[in-house]
Amino acid sequence: MKILIVYYSRTDVTKGIANKIQSILNCDIEEITDDGKYDGKLGFLKGGMNATMGRASDINPISKDPADYDLVIVGTPVWSSNMATPIFTYLIQNKDKINKMASFCTCMGGGYDKALEKMAEVSGKQQISTMFLTSKDIDNPSEKIDTFINEIK
Ligand SMILES: Cc1cc2nc3c(=O)[nH]c(=O)nc-3n(C[C@H](O)[C@H](O)[C@H](O)COP(=O)(O)O)c2cc1C
Repeated sequence: MKILIVYYSRTDVTKGIANKIQSILNCDIEEITDDGKYDGKLGFLKGGMNATMGRASDINPISKDPADYDLVIVGTPVWSSNMATPIFTYLIQNKDKINKMASFCTCMGGGYDKALEKMAEVSGKQQISTMFLTSKDIDNPSEKIDTFINEIK
């Protein structure tokens, strides 16, 4: 099965998890970037607002076509009990090119269930596997990652 991991990360937490999954699956990976639109305190506020309002914002062009993959794993930080805006934008732009999908999110401690639900809703894809990691899980994510990957295989 050809797998692509797509993720956005504002402060590298989701990035760390995406890289761990990538090293286990040995698959392609693509980071969604937007030239730091959500950096800093102002970016935090803007991100919270956009995620709450369900707004999209520009992302940089992607280099990997999701249609080339059997499965796309999408990772996002939770923003205001929703997916991060750049991932919302990615899903809106690419949902019709995604075959099968799995998703994961990282957060401080809450809103992950709504964020994961929203990812399924926006993509229109039934999720093969989902995973959330709170700040308690971040230092020791292996067990949750193993379960997530076993459901994919
Ligand atoms: C705009 C914004 C909104 C957030 N909202 C939530 C939230 O609703 N629940 C939560 O537990 N954490 C929330 N967080 C914290 C992040 O989800 C958490 O720190 C995440 O692991 C950061 O991942 P990253 O380093 O990949 O960006 C929010 C962070 C930002 C920037």
